[in-house]
Amino acid sequence: MSEPDSLIWAAPAKLNLYLHVTGKRDDGYHLLDSLVTFATVCDVVRIERASALSLTIDGPFGEGLPLTSDNLVLRAAEKLRQLTGVSEGAHITLTKNLPLSSGIGGGSSDAAATLRGLVRLWGIHPGHHDLSGLALSLGADVPVCLFGRSAFMSGIGERIEPVDDLPEVPMVLVNPGIGVSTPEIFKARTGTYSPSGKFEQTPETLDEFVTLLQETRHNDLAAPAISKQPVIKEVLDQIVRSDGCRLSRMSGSGATCFGFFNTPSQAEEAAKTLAHAYPQWWVKSGAILNDVRSLSAI
Ligand code: C5P
Repeated sequence: MSEPDSLIWAAPAKLNLYLHVTGKRDDGYHLLDSLVTFATVCDVVRIERASALSLTIDGPFGEGLPLTSDNLVLRAAEKLRQLTGVSEGAHITLTKNLPLSSGIGGGSSDAAATLRGLVRLWGIHPGHHDLSGLALSLGADVPVCLFGRSAFMSGIGERIEPVDDLPEVPMVLVNPGIGVSTPEIFKARTGTYSPSGKFEQTPETLDEFVTLLQETRHNDLAAPAISKQPVIKEVLDQIVRSDGCRLSRMSGSGATCFGFFNTPSQAEEAAKTLAHAYPQWWVKSGAILNDVRSLSAI
């Protein structure tokens, strides 16, 4: 199969449907247990053949992102070149639709889409183990984003256990227009550690899904995040008060929250109402996405 000259990948939002902090390693990283899935709301990564590596960023959240080598997309590309000895470059265009530092793994998903795209563009075959290690070195959420399917995640993010497809629940995603610092939220977490919240059965209906998730502890980072940014509590309350909402939760270290809805039209209606009532909030409707490769980027 010949390699393409350009590729476009969706880099969907990652969601922690529940997130338990189960312990802490000696190096300060926390041990997590989480059911991770994705949403049909995404950044877009376009990759074109070029001799050098370069990046252009556009989109509603493009401003304020560094174009330097700190950028996760460029770091992913650079590390993949080092790992595989490729000398080619690529021109990458990142369309940043997802809010920054917002608990939905935007940067991690962008890095994962970049790795996936460059592997195709450069026609390379890095070993699974090497690529997973590279992903983890970029951030704790990158391995699950690279895996790109609904999964239980544990360790600091490196242990991934696939689950059967989850119901494609209609959803609303809301960010109150604030970025939060992940290390600060982890530092502010107090109290005992949680047991694993993993469940054995795959939910087939929305009712079963909600019941299983309600048996978990929601998100152990929600209390510290709310203590730093009380508006997160208001976001959760406003989502759950919307018609047809079955559950509202925070993702990752916040501040983005999501709600499960009975029907797509109820999710759309709730998104419209919230966006109107809170014009400074980022509000999107969508649905659970079990496989990031199934989402067309354009
Ligand atoms: O890996 P990532 O860059 O997403 O992590 C940001 C910070 O969040 C880490 O430096 C660490 O302070 C904290 N973190 C943690 N345990 C994890 C993931 C992140 O303590 N499993």
